[in-house]
Amino acid sequence: MAKLDIVATANAMVAPGKGVLAADESTGTIKKRFDSINVESTEDNRRAYRELLFTTKDSGKYISGVILYDETIRQSASDGRRFVDILNDQGSLPGIKVDMGAKPLAGAPDETVTEGLDGLRDRLNEYVDLGARFTKWRAVIKIGDHIPSRYCIEANAHALGRYAALSQEAGLVPIVEPEVLMDGAHDIERCQSVTEATLNAVFNQLFEQRVKLEGMVLKPNMVISGTDCPKQAGVDKVAEATVASLRRCVPAAVPGIVFLSGGQSEEEATAHLNAMNALGSLPWELSFSYGRALQQSALKAWGGKTENLASAQAAYLHRARMNGAARTGDYSAEKEGELAA
Ligand code: 13P
Repeated sequence: MAKLDIVATANAMVAPGKGVLAADESTGTIKKRFDSINVESTEDNRRAYRELLFTTKDSGKYISGVILYDETIRQSASDGRRFVDILNDQGSLPGIKVDMGAKPLAGAPDETVTEGLDGLRDRLNEYVDLGARFTKWRAVIKIGDHIPSRYCIEANAHALGRYAALSQEAGLVPIVEPEVLMDGAHDIERCQSVTEATLNAVFNQLFEQRVKLEGMVLKPNMVISGTDCPKQAGVDKVAEATVASLRRCVPAAVPGIVFLSGGQSEEEATAHLNAMNALGSLPWELSFSYGRALQQSALKAWGGKTENLASAQAAYLHRARMNGAARTGDYSAEKEGELAA
């Protein structure tokens, strides 16, 4: 196989008007999503649901890449075509989640470190053979009374560096995802200081571990009020605080930043991205890599029933299109009505 070009891949992932679909829910997480629509999480139902998303006509206009889970990258559609081939035909690059989840961090109550480094080199090479072009690793940073600890931030940043360097060695673009959770009653200022401390630690490790910034993509949280904070910051404030923090912490050599949605509603996640892109010229592409904020309405419309396929695909395509518009600041709440029309 020709040597994979990580810089070209990273730039394709954040191409204008496009973003990434996170469809890499682990077996445990997809079960939670299916429970919400009363659908049993069998391998066949998971396959059918992912087939619905991946075969959505025209999705490649807005979706540059799709993050898959280990089970999914090996699966095929009902007509026998491999999912990886379907995505390539749509013009969406296949990617793969390679972490093994956030596990309790020894000596640090309520904090986690993401595992999955042992044997990672071999797994990455297998994923290359299966057709992956990029990878994802999610670190989780929780805000609470005395947390996050510096220990937790550093342990996670170090693992992200190890993962990113190994991915690039294999010719895969790492999506480096340090997620500061929205859970909690903290205000937006606290989210901002924790996000900046985390991003600084992460980029320090990426530097120490010789990661090529031009061949990676950052997937951060937005700077936002905690879910239970009594005083919720508005859209403009979230956009300004997020862009300010990213400007302080993310080198301009990084081609693009793709946000996670983290529990925001679909429309909030789109409005926030739009407001950021409306702020004017930025050093990197600002895009999306949403899971829930691209899938929520589609999942609900599907409800596990084959006869709902068309309406579920329409719901997914609509969200993809709205977020595509948010890439240039062209989204508005009025555009939401276009689906019904
Ligand atoms: P959400 O957008 O649902 O937060 O998922 C994105 C993701 O990939 C988290 O790792």
